[in-house]
Amino acid sequence: MWRQANWDEKPIFKLSSYGKPTFLFSDTAEFEKEVGSADNLIPKVIARSEAPKIPNISEVEVIRHFTRLSQMSYGVDLGPVPLGSCTMKYNPKVCEELANDEGITDLHPYQDESTVQGILEILYLLQKWLAEITGMDECCLQPPAGASGEFTGALMIRKYHLDRGEGFRNEMIIPDNAHGSNPASAAMAGFKVVRIPTSNSGEVDLDALKAVLGDRTAGIMLTNPNTLGIFESRIVEIASEVHKVGGILYYDGANLNGILGIARPGDMGFDLVHLNVHKTFSAPHGGGGPGAGVICAKGELTDYLPVPNVGFDGTKYFLNYSKRKSIGKISQFYGNVIPLVKAFIYLLSLGPNIREVCEVAVLNTNYFIKLIDGVRGVSIPYGKGRFRKHEVVISFEDLLKDTGINAEEVAKALIDKGVYAPTIYFPLIVNEAHMIEFTESETMENIELYAKVYREIVEEAYKDPAKLRNCPENTSITRLDLGLANHPLTRSPDFKFLGRLKGAVRSDI
Ligand SMILES: Cc1ncc(COP(=O)(O)O)c(C=O)c1O
Repeated sequence: MWRQANWDEKPIFKLSSYGKPTFLFSDTAEFEKEVGSADNLIPKVIARSEAPKIPNISEVEVIRHFTRLSQMSYGVDLGPVPLGSCTMKYNPKVCEELANDEGITDLHPYQDESTVQGILEILYLLQKWLAEITGMDECCLQPPAGASGEFTGALMIRKYHLDRGEGFRNEMIIPDNAHGSNPASAAMAGFKVVRIPTSNSGEVDLDALKAVLGDRTAGIMLTNPNTLGIFESRIVEIASEVHKVGGILYYDGANLNGILGIARPGDMGFDLVHLNVHKTFSAPHGGGGPGAGVICAKGELTDYLPVPNVGFDGTKYFLNYSKRKSIGKISQFYGNVIPLVKAFIYLLSLGPNIREVCEVAVLNTNYFIKLIDGVRGVSIPYGKGRFRKHEVVISFEDLLKDTGINAEEVAKALIDKGVYAPTIYFPLIVNEAHMIEFTESETMENIELYAKVYREIVEEAYKDPAKLRNCPENTSITRLDLGLANHPLTRSPDFKFLGRLKGAVRSDI
């Protein structure tokens, strides 16, 4: 399988042994003759009084130590990372390589515009392409993450209503299957969150939506396909109902890969869109970034986009600060430029083939469903028998009832078998959930292998559930006490404290 290494790796200080010769420099006498002794070169006030306590270890042992450490972490370069929603897909190395070009990495944000025409052209074209892909009029590349794009959009909606003398619109409607960042962004922008339920079909409950629409409606935040991987087929009707009462439709584009190149949020009636550039258009995601959460707008709302964005006057590119109603700046300089360059290269390399990203991602999801559907203990709630788009949410509720093994234990068993576990316990409307997204990057063989491991675990759960209770056992760090692991104190660099995690962490590190 794709298991990460499980070395018994000691900290580098424990590998060190003082007094042992570990390096060899050529004779320094010649050098000292020319420039003088190091003692004279370094002013006394800043010179060390004693040697630093760094490990004494040879170069080859340092390299081996860090290589072993690097193999102890699992990543998308080792095997599938099918994290639904917070997708981690393979990012082509050509994007990494070109974005790492010195011509890009050595630029300074305070350089004169005339000296950075190349990067401005890249950003300008990216703005245009993303507007075309989403069916919007204009994009701004500034927000540094998806959630930041949402917050930007929510601020724009607030200012738009205020400017029209409708500051009383303080309600943001959000379905109960939404990503947690949606209600958080809306609340941070000062809105009251109004939750609406998902119907059995897996779509927004339209009657429930109609019941909450009114004078106070500021807007609705939706993702389509939604977090269940189901396409909101009545989106045009939803848009018309929300617009009828003066509300704004906000599109959470984290799931755009489910319709990329085939359908556009702008054509469905959305007024604002954020894109998780780092998910849909290549660039690593996870560990907090750096990401990019481009925000795009239509019609009057384009006036409220953050400044600056990149303009073109027919001869040169420039930073455009001229939006009168703009909500202002949302991040330092022009956002995270490197992931944006990666997205540009990704789009350039795919060109009109971009829809294949979506087609293969959707095919992969539905192939996996075929392999897992009907397995005892596993169910696929909501939208029974419906085609999924970019991801699928399966439930282990029956397995829990039958065997006492829950979704978390299945995830730990996956890890034990050398397989990276998917997102668990999200969305909240599915009990004992696993949310799986292979994206377009995975091969058929890997998907088959993944489904096979799932089936093996379920079989084991029915045969001998006790075996699964202590998973993972084949990993460097065994089962963590999740409550304790989330405690702020455990993030302390103090290893002794970590060591007290009820045997969760090996005693020798
Ligand atoms: C549906 C959805 N919306 C919003 C976000 C927030 O994006 P980010 O993690 O870039 O802030 C995510 C997370 O990946 C997501 O899955």
